[in-house]
Amino acid sequence: MGDEGGGRPRQWTWTTTVKLEVLEQYLKQFTTTAKYKAGGNTVYLDLFAGGLENIDKFTGQPFPGSAELALHTEPAFRTVRLFEMPPNAAQLRAELTARFPGRDLQVIEGDCNTTLPEALASLNRHAPTFAFVDPDGLEVRWSTLEALADHKRSGRSPYKVELWILFSAPGLLRTLALDERKLTPSDEDRANRLFGTGQWRCIYEARVRERITPASARQEYVNLMRWRLQEVLGYRYTHALEMKLPEGQPLYNMVFASDNDAGNDIMSALYRKAYARWPQMRAEREAARRRREHGPNLFEAAGLDDPTLEPTIKAAYEHLEPWTPPETFEDLA
Ligand SMILES: C[S@@+](CC[C@H](N)C(=O)[O-])C[C@H]1O[C@@H](n2cnc3c(N)ncnc32)[C@H](O)[C@@H]1O
Repeated sequence: MGDEGGGRPRQWTWTTTVKLEVLEQYLKQFTTTAKYKAGGNTVYLDLFAGGLENIDKFTGQPFPGSAELALHTEPAFRTVRLFEMPPNAAQLRAELTARFPGRDLQVIEGDCNTTLPEALASLNRHAPTFAFVDPDGLEVRWSTLEALADHKRSGRSPYKVELWILFSAPGLLRTLALDERKLTPSDEDRANRLFGTGQWRCIYEARVRERITPASARQEYVNLMRWRLQEVLGYRYTHALEMKLPEGQPLYNMVFASDNDAGNDIMSALYRKAYARWPQMRAEREAARRRREHGPNLFEAAGLDDPTLEPTIKAAYEHLEPWTPPETFEDLA
């Protein structure tokens, strides 16, 4: 999920660094565990694979995106399938197949919501499989998540494809107009396709009637997604962590779904770590920005920490089970 659109290379803010750090660390644990349990027969799916040229908006430094991180994971994924739109897909294919010769790697061009089922049909249904779902906005469809969850159901494994979805609750608030006369059929269709149900309307209507705040509406949308992943698709565990801009503006929620105890423990630990680092990282970024714009301040010149940049948020990541979503807007107050 991007912080900024535009040409290439794409520029990203520090939330992307956090996202990719969590991904990199999780993938390493995933393939390490699978090496002993499944003989290293692992599959990585990247449904919104992105590009190869990514620049940190703040430092100007290039950094690898999710596809490249997955290909560098050690122990290696045996099979890698990347999904991208044209023209990015052709470029990804040309560059990655040249850089990673001999790997079972395919770049599948087009809308992943359409191309995924055929791609899944040719994959091993027993292999531990991780799917990263990182759209720019609200492009992923429930039918795609369903196809991923169903992929291994007929196999021997008790585990479904693990999902890591960047879910844009703020995007829903932005696109579902509060003035009901401005709510377009395409906005409604997008929300229906995302959730695979019209149940989001109860949250929307509660928001329209100002029964709930934007923050609780976001929380309810994330909860609805998690609840459906568990209750409809049958995942045992889900987690969600909200990512925000340094100014506190919410960007997206990192939603994880797994059946695996080890996966659950590892992602919980990574979320706790990411959450704990968030205020510190925010303070460091803000200090660097001020330094760049105004030069070293008095504290820094004296070799002291700037007390105005003390991290302010001390809360820890806490896992809560999703609650039953509202059936009418009146269930929300
Ligand atoms: C947020 S970026 C992905 C970033 C990448 N996962 C990373 O972390 O480096 C989203 C990407 O999805 C691609 N995309 C958008 N809609 C798509 C679709 N329906 N199917 C496949 N790719 C899509 C965009 O071209 C964009 O490169």
